[in-house]
Amino acid sequence: MKLTQLRLRNLRNLAALDLDLVAGLNLFVGPNGAGKTSVLEGAYLLSHAQSFRAGPSDTLVRRGAEQMSLFARIERRAGTMQIGLARQNGAWEAKIHNDRAVNLGSMLREFALVCFDPGSHELISGGSESRRRFLDWGVFHVEPDFLACSRQYRRALRQRNTLLKQGAGESELDLWDAALSRAAEPLGKLRRDYFTRYAPLLVSGLADYLPELGQATVSFASGWPDEVSLDEALRRTRAQDRARGHTTRGPHRADWSIRFVEAPQREHLSRGQEKACALACVLAQAALYAQACGEWPVIALDDLASELDAEHQQRVVKMLRDSGAQALISGINVPDCLRHTDAPVRVFHVEHGEVRSLL
Ligand SMILES: Nc1ncnc2c1ncn2[C@@H]1O[C@H](COP(=O)(O)OP(=O)(O)OP(=O)(O)O)[C@@H](O)[C@H]1O
Ligand SMILES: [Mg+2]
Repeated sequence: MKLTQLRLRNLRNLAALDLDLVAGLNLFVGPNGAGKTSVLEGAYLLSHAQSFRAGPSDTLVRRGAEQMSLFARIERRAGTMQIGLARQNGAWEAKIHNDRAVNLGSMLREFALVCFDPGSHELISGGSESRRRFLDWGVFHVEPDFLACSRQYRRALRQRNTLLKQGAGESELDLWDAALSRAAEPLGKLRRDYFTRYAPLLVSGLADYLPELGQATVSFASGWPDEVSLDEALRRTRAQDRARGHTTRGPHRADWSIRFVEAPQREHLSRGQEKACALACVLAQAALYAQACGEWPVIALDDLASELDAEHQQRVVKMLRDSGAQALISGINVPDCLRHTDAPVRVFHVEHGEVRSLL
């Protein structure tokens, strides 16, 4: 898929931006604080309804403005799509084809963008929540039932947590343990199925980007011990859950991990290796999307040249060329690795929130 038009209003320091993008590489260059990352962030928001940067969503809205609005025209295999997303009074409003508001899930399904940015190493060194969120974005696009299963599970989880806090009786908790286990089953299966497809792509990407670390092994953890059912795991931890007032086992605790022969623990990785690892994770997810949906998602690379060494940059450029995926890339200057590419390139100069196309 290709993002052909991006319209941003009141996103951070970008008051009003209308961009026509090329199908190949779109480079955003300019000094620090100019608004380069914010352009990529605008596109990312249309695909995630959440930034890749930390902080509450309301800090995205330009200081002094009441509303932020984003619009994209996307060329998909199935035809042209227009999507819009606005943030006002602490809530999102999504649109498709300028029609009346649609639910966020319907809009997000129409546009896929993966992003590698200076915070991506968190995927490796951070807590399980970011890895779950990352995985679930892929599951959402590949498994149509994911959203409904996930909602159903969260409802059951909320209910069990409320009962734990209220000190409900054993028989009532028996019923909710069974309900939670039933809701967990389809969700756990969708995630596991997705990970089974993701694992070989990821292992192969890791071999490309981190050959010095030897063979990689990746594994998925469902959120409770493999040897028992969730129902049984919940019964075993009930006393502990009562004391804590929340449920400590279940798919909301799922996680996945990577180990290398030469780096059996994640603490063995250097910061640069964490970044290369995160990049392999992001690109493998793009490859799985392409395999499952028949078209590549857009690939955003924020600060490419300052995050990766020359060899890793070359690998990404080769991957972009081989796949034909559209890319949005930011940096202080045009990176050397992109100076002699044969893909269509458009360079945009960004300064003080204004963007000019350098043709
Ligand atoms: N809510 C907001 N309202 C107005 N300006 C904001 C808001 N949030 C951030 N900014 C400003 O937006 C500008 C753009 O930030 P951005 O991170 O996009 O810059 P950048 O070009 O990527 O810089 P760098 O090269 O340092 O990564 C910064 O000057 C920042 O202070
Ligand atoms: Mg930046």
